Amino acid sequence: MSEVVSYEVRGSIGLIHINNPPVNALSVNKGVLQGLLDAIKSGDHDPRVSAFLMIGGGKNFSGGADISEFGKPKVPGMATLADLLAYMDTVTKPIVAALSGPTMGGGFELALTCHYRLAGATTVVALPEVKLGILPGAGGTQRLPRMIGAERALDVMTTGNFISVIEAKTLGIVDEVIEGDLLDGALKWVKRALRAGLPVARVSERSVETSLDPKTFISQAREIAQKKWSGYPAPLGIVDCVEAAITKPFKEGLQIERKNIERLISTNESKSLRHLFFAERQANKVIGLAKDVEVSAIETVAVIGAGMMGAGIAMNFLNASIPVLIVDTSEATLQKGIDTIKKNYSATVEKGRLSAEERDRRVALLSGSTKLSAVSEADLVIEAVYEEMEVKKAIFLELDTISKPKAILATNTSTLDINQIAGVTKRPEQVIGLHFFSPANVMRLLEVVRADKTSPQVIATSMKVAKKIKKTPVCVGVCDGFVGNRMIHNYLREAEYLIEEGALPQEVDQAIESFGFAMGPFRMCDLAGLDIGWAIRKRKKSEGVMSDRYVTIPDHICERGWFGQKTGRGYYTYESGSRVPQDNPEIAAIIDAASREKGIKRRTIEASEIIDRLMFALINEGADILAEGIAQRASDIDVIYAFGYGFPRYRGGPMFYADTLGLSAVIDGIQRYSKQPLGDHWAVSPYLAKLAHENRTFGSI
Ligand code: 3HC
Repeated sequence: MSEVVSYEVRGSIGLIHINNPPVNALSVNKGVLQGLLDAIKSGDHDPRVSAFLMIGGGKNFSGGADISEFGKPKVPGMATLADLLAYMDTVTKPIVAALSGPTMGGGFELALTCHYRLAGATTVVALPEVKLGILPGAGGTQRLPRMIGAERALDVMTTGNFISVIEAKTLGIVDEVIEGDLLDGALKWVKRALRAGLPVARVSERSVETSLDPKTFISQAREIAQKKWSGYPAPLGIVDCVEAAITKPFKEGLQIERKNIERLISTNESKSLRHLFFAERQANKVIGLAKDVEVSAIETVAVIGAGMMGAGIAMNFLNASIPVLIVDTSEATLQKGIDTIKKNYSATVEKGRLSAEERDRRVALLSGSTKLSAVSEADLVIEAVYEEMEVKKAIFLELDTISKPKAILATNTSTLDINQIAGVTKRPEQVIGLHFFSPANVMRLLEVVRADKTSPQVIATSMKVAKKIKKTPVCVGVCDGFVGNRMIHNYLREAEYLIEEGALPQEVDQAIESFGFAMGPFRMCDLAGLDIGWAIRKRKKSEGVMSDRYVTIPDHICERGWFGQKTGRGYYTYESGSRVPQDNPEIAAIIDAASREKGIKRRTIEASEIIDRLMFALINEGADILAEGIAQRASDIDVIYAFGYGFPRYRGGPMFYADTLGLSAVIDGIQRYSKQPLGDHWAVSPYLAKLAHENRTFGSI
């Protein structure tokens, strides 16, 4: 047998272990599938063997097909998953899978081809291929509907959501949940079952049940897939395969599945989603940080500032069972923050997504104080007050004297210089930025901002605690706006230039939303509140810091008291209590006047120019950020944009998108726009130019 699969005969059982760390991916090239095929063939011909038991070593049964092998050449002569499953369907001895932990994608399809499935305490199953822009391609689309019915199977495959062990048992996916040691219990179960007569039970021989009329069900499913997952081709392919499962024999269904996966695997959407899968995991690794760096325990957290941000931040830790003390100088603000947290939890209870007991347990972990000195016992203190350097400095000065010597002192600033904040303390090595995104209890992105003197231990602990609270952390360096907001600044500036030159806000938003963004720039500004930017611009004006080309349109809007959604009017209008934007009938005249004031002759701007200019603004700034070492990798920038800024995941993030266009094409575009009237702000990033000159991509760095 191979190293990645071990096989032994225990009594009458052929015991197969998959040993391909870290997740037992079903690699072709490493010989996992060949090893499994050899083991089953060997037992099939061995008269001592009456049944097989297959189990995964380590924490997983299997994470599925090896994603890193997609699109790469296969080692000749090695079995594929299709070869293995086809052989398994001919075996006349029962095959039992002991699902030792997460059982994903091809791993679950392997388990569905086994005749029985046993689960342990850590088992979860899923067909998450859709998240990679593909579909279950090893019989999953044909077997799962036969096992749990077409409607439920369609939902499982189009969402990619995990199925818990309890649900798997209820659905009949799992035959028995084993208490205690899974291998031991599974061996006993097989022996017992063999004595009682354990027939071969192939899922492929079952028929598919549907509670709805199949034709109506499929046409509704197709309509939903088109609307709900616009831009993602895989869900529609899944509907085609489920239709085949209902209407065609198993083998024909398998062929339809094969055609669909082969088509999907080579789409740009799938390549982009696979890029983000690995990018997210890469982002978790901090370059230069030793693997054995000591990580401190974070058992209590204090959050300073009980506003929306502070309350949202606190909830993350409460959700992870970490007690939180929330501090605010004003009793009323403190109480409001605590009430916000309680209200948010109660809303989740009402939606049926949280039990009342769990809400009470989380709320019981929350305490409040109006005294900063109360944070003295916290392992992690997060400051989340408003963006004013002097206020933050004063807080950190005081924190330095009252916090535990080993406490991590974090600021949630989104723009300010963390080195300056750290500089007021005698322990700058303990100071770090933890930049949460609003709403902080919902958004997964967390920029972990390392200042010049932040210690490796503080960085490692922050990354670890971020994972514990289920965030996607990305380690970045200090600069104005860090990675995400520094780039968005250029994007918003370009959007303003576009409306000054001829487009209307709704045209810009529609173009970028058709590109796949969750929300266009002007809808985003209306949501965030236009008054915030106005205040910053007024401050900068008074400090004499002004950009060369100052767009006055947002000021004219704010002067009317229109601050976006909160006032019912901004770039758009909103009916009372509604978040649905409607065209603001007065906006065109305001913009027109602003263009005229500057002597700009307005012109029609095509959607393609809008998309190009907004994307190039992001890419060009992203290249500078990489050159300066503010982001560790181009793929980290992609993670930031996909998880924090609504960038369409099926385009992989701005830097990956640049690679798909080709860096020379990006440069050509920037140069073309720089030659337009008013295009003199465009200058190609020297780093982008260098990469293009060397015929390289961001992915190759
Ligand atoms: N192929 C290749 N590498 C994989 C992998 C896979 N299917 N699944 C995980 N990995 C790698 C990760 O990249 C990571 O590598 P790194 O340490 O070098 O960064 C390592 O395994 C550990 O992964 P996680 O950090 O995600 O580990 P967790 O313990 O948090 O989670 C898991 C384990 C639940 C298995 C999770 O990794 C997961 O969900 N994996 C992907 C599941 C998936 O999408 N499977 C479908 C694959 S496509 C398929 O099967 C096609 C089939 O239908 C034909």
